[in-house]
Amino acid sequence: MEYSIYMPVNIQFGEGMVKRIDQFCSPKDRILFICDPVIEQMGLRKKIADNLKNSDISVFSDVEPNPSVHTVNKALRIAKENKIDLCIGLGGGSSLDTAKAVACISSADGSFEDYLYGKQVVKGRKKLILIPTTAGTGSECTCVGVYTDTEKNRKTGYRTPYFYCDTAIVDPELTYSVPSSVTAATGIDAFTHALEAYWNTSSNSLCRGAAMYACRDVLKNLYSCYEDPQNKTARSSLSNASMLGGWAFGQVRTTLIHALSFPFADYFHVPHGIACALSLVPVMRYAVSNEPDCLTELACFCSYPSTKDLIAEVENMINRMNLLSSIPDIHISPAEMRDIAEKACALEYAHLIPGDIDVERLTFLLNDFLRRVFE
Ligand SMILES: NC(=O)c1ccc[n+]([C@@H]2O[C@H](COP(=O)([O-])OP(=O)(O)OC[C@H]3O[C@@H](n4cnc5c(N)ncnc54)[C@H](O)[C@@H]3O)[C@@H](O)[C@H]2O)c1
Ligand SMILES: [Fe+2]
Repeated sequence: MEYSIYMPVNIQFGEGMVKRIDQFCSPKDRILFICDPVIEQMGLRKKIADNLKNSDISVFSDVEPNPSVHTVNKALRIAKENKIDLCIGLGGGSSLDTAKAVACISSADGSFEDYLYGKQVVKGRKKLILIPTTAGTGSECTCVGVYTDTEKNRKTGYRTPYFYCDTAIVDPELTYSVPSSVTAATGIDAFTHALEAYWNTSSNSLCRGAAMYACRDVLKNLYSCYEDPQNKTARSSLSNASMLGGWAFGQVRTTLIHALSFPFADYFHVPHGIACALSLVPVMRYAVSNEPDCLTELACFCSYPSTKDLIAEVENMINRMNLLSSIPDIHISPAEMRDIAEKACALEYAHLIPGDIDVERLTFLLNDFLRRVFE
């Protein structure tokens, strides 16, 4: 047995935790907040900034869902102009990922593309605090960022240990205002991270333990949060599960479902969680057909009589939350189907699922389930 764990993040979890933000900053820090327009307009960014003694605070509030390379470069310019010491990412995964890139590249030369496409290597970063307002990506605990190159119409992941932040402040109260449709999509993303960390062929007992706990708590609490956004106990469990899922997959990576979510996002332009929901159940069935016992322990831990019942519950939840109904009815030709399969199979981590996958088999699988989604 051999494995490595690296987790340098100071995790601060709890209701109201964000009010203590000044404990994690120096009063002299020149700060840049990075968030999206919804968080800014809700007044959430200002409310949090009011807890700080710092006088030099700038704001970039133009992050869009699935943040573009262009957006990162815009935020980067503001960071450099203001000579910041500390970057605070506040929001869903889109804002946190933007903040990660800005914190790293604002201490160096070049544009974000230089790093994303390997011309330059990240060698350090400014101080970084991440505050999630969705329960889904777990980005506050991962060394991953995901960006969209709008010119190439391509979503790309970037990994560096410098993307681990200094402090993650996970305050479930910040998620009470998340609309049900976003709760549903982000919750399925959290479940997928945990599932893929659990069955990942490179996983280890620490990650598997965290992942099982996270899977169980998403299954127990996601629908309650969807139905009743103010359900405090369920919201708290979901934020915790999301963070644990991120913690686990950040160590061992994801697998085929996330590998497929990238070409799906390019074709369908849907939120990340919906791109995951699209293949979640078919890939679970595929993995079990390859390795019948790959979900047995998880099903038992989550109190389902069998793997079949576990998968049925996941399918049932996706249907009850209408997650797939928002996917645009785009005709995908056989050549495009193969293109999606080739793009997913080209990602090394796609092959970390139980059993083997190749372009032929994946094209066959896609033909089968995409046809049924659009029937
Ligand atoms: N870095 C990672 O480890 C990692 C992991 C998974 C996904 N991702 C990436 O993260 C992005 C998705 O992040 P996301 O799913 O959190 O969504 P998001 O950040 O795109 O936000 C989705 C929507 O929810 C709104 N929102 C967020 N918090 C809110 C709140 N408290 N109240 C009301 N509205 C709120 C936002 O304004 C936005 O409109 C994608 O780009 C995805 O690829 C990153
Ligand atoms: Fe994800």
